[in-house]
Amino acid sequence: MPRIAYVNGRYVRHAVAAVHIEDRGYQFADGVYEVCEVARGFIMDMTRHLDRLDRSLGHLEIAWPMARKALETVLREVVKRMVYLQVTRGVAGRDHVFPAAVRSALVVTAKRSDPAVALARAEIGVKVITVPENRWERVDIKTVGLLPNVLAKQKAKLAGAYEAWFVDPDGTVKEGASTNAWIVTKDGKLVTRPAESGILRGITRTTLFDLAAKMGLTIEERGFTVTEAKAAREAFITAATTVVMPVVAIDGDPVANGHPGSIALSLRGSFFDVAEKTKA
Ligand code: PDD
Repeated sequence: MPRIAYVNGRYVRHAVAAVHIEDRGYQFADGVYEVCEVARGFIMDMTRHLDRLDRSLGHLEIAWPMARKALETVLREVVKRMVYLQVTRGVAGRDHVFPAAVRSALVVTAKRSDPAVALARAEIGVKVITVPENRWERVDIKTVGLLPNVLAKQKAKLAGAYEAWFVDPDGTVKEGASTNAWIVTKDGKLVTRPAESGILRGITRTTLFDLAAKMGLTIEERGFTVTEAKAAREAFITAATTVVMPVVAIDGDPVANGHPGSIALSLRGSFFDVAEKTKA
């Protein structure tokens, strides 16, 4: 099957898919996006992803590019392994203020990802580095303005790590460049930072609350420092792209014995059963 994309009303071959040069997402990062995991033919947690899209659009006063039900159909058409959807304010002559009566622009693409590669990575665990928080205040909105995240992720790669955690001046961990951050305390409690502000409320994070309840695990929503994370029983990250991924080193120091933790791995193993599944 050829790879296809949906661009503003048309299904087109991915190789020739294009947006207008005056799309405000391109010029101003004036747009929002979602990434959904696709596993075993199901789009995972689509309702929660589209609820968050609704929130992001509402905060930026961008209109839905089409009815929600119609968008669900587009996602199912395009989907293969990982589905990316982006809405920008639309195409308009360059001017910072919101253009009048412009249609929001929609792009949906899909990317293959190999579940075996992800599983192999989870069995080894990943390394993270820490970087100073330098992003704007509204990281709770899932905007395409990701330059600090791109720079942090590149720095991680150059350091031989998979992720970079943004850290406040007081040493508190915010979140990763594209993931939420978690630790497991010595007595087996899951800890993650509150998501009211300062981080993106990850859908994987939210679904993990359902899973933890099913598994009888307690979650403490509170900040934790880099020092606490290094001394924790386990650390892990969550996102649609990684599901639950054990963290085995932070800034070159091992977390616990430097091996993936059993709680992170069992959360990863049970995630599929608990997440909402929409047949692709
Ligand atoms: N990123 N925090 C940030 C900054 C993110 O960009 C993401 C997701 C998350 C986790 O959210 P979720 O569980 O809904 O995927 C947390 C996506 C995957 C990306 O940009 O590729």
